[in-house]
Amino acid sequence: VIRLALKLPPEGSHVFIGAGLLDELPEHVLERVPAAHYGIVTDSHVAEKYAQPLAAALRAERVRADVVSFTAGEGQKSRTTWATLTDALLARRLGRDGCIIALGGGVACDLGGFVAATYMRGLPCVQVPTSLLAMIDASIGGKTAVDVPAGKNLVGAFLQPHLVAIDPLALGTLPERELRAGLAEAVKHGAIADGEYLRWIGQTAKPLLAREPQPLAHLIRRSVEIKAAVVQADPVERGVRAVLNFGHTVAHAIEALSAYAVPHGYAVAIGMIAEAEIGTAAGVTAEGTADELRAILHGLGLPVALPAGLAPADILTAAASDKKARATRIRYALLERVGGTVTDDAGAHTVEVADDIALRALGRCLPRERREA
Ligand SMILES: NC(=O)c1ccc[n+]([C@@H]2O[C@H](COP(=O)([O-])OP(=O)(O)OC[C@H]3O[C@@H](n4cnc5c(N)ncnc54)[C@H](O)[C@@H]3O)[C@@H](O)[C@H]2O)c1
Ligand SMILES: [Zn+2]
Repeated sequence: VIRLALKLPPEGSHVFIGAGLLDELPEHVLERVPAAHYGIVTDSHVAEKYAQPLAAALRAERVRADVVSFTAGEGQKSRTTWATLTDALLARRLGRDGCIIALGGGVACDLGGFVAATYMRGLPCVQVPTSLLAMIDASIGGKTAVDVPAGKNLVGAFLQPHLVAIDPLALGTLPERELRAGLAEAVKHGAIADGEYLRWIGQTAKPLLAREPQPLAHLIRRSVEIKAAVVQADPVERGVRAVLNFGHTVAHAIEALSAYAVPHGYAVAIGMIAEAEIGTAAGVTAEGTADELRAILHGLGLPVALPAGLAPADILTAAASDKKARATRIRYALLERVGGTVTDDAGAHTVEVADDIALRALGRCLPRERREA
């Protein structure tokens, strides 16, 4: 088992990564986050497979454990589901001496974390991510939230989990599309922080897609290290954490314009290529960066062009109206080259790019037929 200790307020966070870790989880949980009663928050796809066996194993150690689950899907990441889950835990008499275990994909991690942050003014939290995206992204960094009509993740809290337990073997049951979506975020980690890691992902596409435990464990570890380093430098997102948004300005626009039909990771793949083109057009990103990303993402079976029917101008309109956009002119977290991001003269980690430059760059991301037409 690989153990990483993250320095995060208030008490630090431990990340354990190991094939087969789920089987020894009660031991680690009882040691690191002892409690009289564990409330396991999970979704309907993983409740039987992973949450119930964990509850049974905890009970065998003579502590109370209850599973509360919600119907899987982003649509359930809501205040309504939060209310149902907290009521269910109250009905099971989970008290101040309890602990929340959030088990599942990013939705369960975010919801379970938000339950932990708010239940009886806050309980300790263990994250057990079971999707690749949750393992390398959602479970690390302490952001918890629900979606509201005004936008995604707009109501939530920071809560660092005491323990994040990652078992790559859980990926054996993850749908293919979800695996690829997670790999897009790993590519992002390489792109912003470690060119060598990025190229390794490119060369290891086949074993990764075949879910070989060793390369997957390496990928998870390196991605967690990169995300953790950024988060430790900026725990509540005041500055450098913005670099994690590389590819995401365009990605969020694509997701919104497709009414969320394009999965997040797929939108991020397109967004990274688009923002590499935008950076090059703006004179801050090295030539060839977009092509290098294109080749790697294509090898992972991810989309590398804008969805058919989506015009570059629409993307800029959607990006400008993004609820989280601070200025009227669009800012992007951009690469300087593969493995490093841009910081402007004022120390900002995002760069303003004029719309006409961005439009031309986005034109290079149209599907081939439309580029030639
Ligand atoms: N807190 C953060 O910092 C952060 C970062 C990134 C993403 N997120 C959030 O994460 C969410 C996306 O996460 P996601 O892609 O994991 O979505 P998800 O939780 O919906 O999981 C995707 C699908 O995979 C299923 N699944 C998960 N693990 C499985 C397994 N081992 N076997 C079989 N099926 C499995 C789920 O039931 C679901 O159907 C979004 O809500 C996003 O906002 C949060
Ligand atoms: Zn993302």
